[in-house]
Amino acid sequence: MESKVKKVAILTNGGDAPGLNAVIRAIVKTGRTYGVECYGFIEGYRGLLDNNFVKLDLSTNAKDLISKGGTIIGTSNNTNVFNLKCVNEDGSVEYKDLSEQCIQNIKNDGFDCLFTLGGDGTQKSSRDFSLRGVNCIGVPKTIDNDVACTDMTFGYNTAVSVAVDAIDRLKTTAEAHHRIMVLEVMGRYAGWLALESAIAGGADVALIPEIPYDLNKVVEKINERKEMGRNYTVVVVSEGAKPKDGTITIKRQLDEGKGLDNIRLGGVGEKIADELSEMTGSDSRTTVLGYVQRGGTPSAFDRVLSTKYGTKAMKLAVDGIFNVLVNYKDGKMGYVSLEDVVGAGAVVGAASSNNRTIPMDDELLQVARDMGMCLGD
Ligand code: F6P
Repeated sequence: MESKVKKVAILTNGGDAPGLNAVIRAIVKTGRTYGVECYGFIEGYRGLLDNNFVKLDLSTNAKDLISKGGTIIGTSNNTNVFNLKCVNEDGSVEYKDLSEQCIQNIKNDGFDCLFTLGGDGTQKSSRDFSLRGVNCIGVPKTIDNDVACTDMTFGYNTAVSVAVDAIDRLKTTAEAHHRIMVLEVMGRYAGWLALESAIAGGADVALIPEIPYDLNKVVEKINERKEMGRNYTVVVVSEGAKPKDGTITIKRQLDEGKGLDNIRLGGVGEKIADELSEMTGSDSRTTVLGYVQRGGTPSAFDRVLSTKYGTKAMKLAVDGIFNVLVNYKDGKMGYVSLEDVVGAGAVVGAASSNNRTIPMDDELLQVARDMGMCLGD
């Protein structure tokens, strides 16, 4: 079958996640099968703007990628080319739409399609480019698992495994010292990573952004455990969790530009540990898992998922199906329009606001409750 594309480019954008290189590998290998040349823009949309790209070659720069963490073509998480923050020589700040420059680069370089590997922000720009005539295919990456229209992003499974390993370890030291152990995990405004790792690790409490918490409920759980002779409790808290009638805990407010998520979350774990100590009289400690959740080698599951994502992405391009996100739904690979991913009518250049959070009727929540896990409500 004649491929509809001959020369394509890949970019990886936003925070990295395990499996990025495995997706690149799968795209390039499938491209070889169908006679498609692959290139990579360096550092995400920044490389697209600067027209900085390399040829991806399976015998040199793109070899041995299945297990490699990070991304061989780099990433950028503060480049919204539709509304880019530019600082003039006199220090004044201007916001510019530089997307036309990117589109010209793609045309001049002769790329028939752009693969955008990234989370919600990346897919928002991908959709914005697709509206301006660029053939885009998105691949959903993030350890947060919060991209709309797909059941699982690549990188998520690895992050869950890292968090579960931490819970296993925290449990034994918690038991030894009769402590309340609070583990803060990532996930932004979605609780997938916290809830699934809490279930897999056998934690006693999971606090997630979708269910504003009441610490009195957590104290009840701690006391119930004490009555059963269990003088320790493991609490997993998502960085985006917030108290009932309260707000999320912000570590830093950045000013990196418009249409970007400038909020760095963090600190809720410490806050909860202090409050629980005060309320119960028990000793507590906090562990903030941080970037180990997204660094390093992907799990076997993520290697397979990433390979499926990459092959599917290239096959869509070969078939001439563009402006879609490759998705994984009900155990099958498919695709969905980028417009559906960002939400119909989303404004070009604006931030993405269509995150996939845990629905209140999700099976995982019921499983947690049936197991007696406290969800803070
Ligand atoms: O989206 C992935 C993620 O790791 C979040 O879980 C976390 O809040 C954020 O990125 C941290 O991003 P940064 O790399 O900007 O510190």
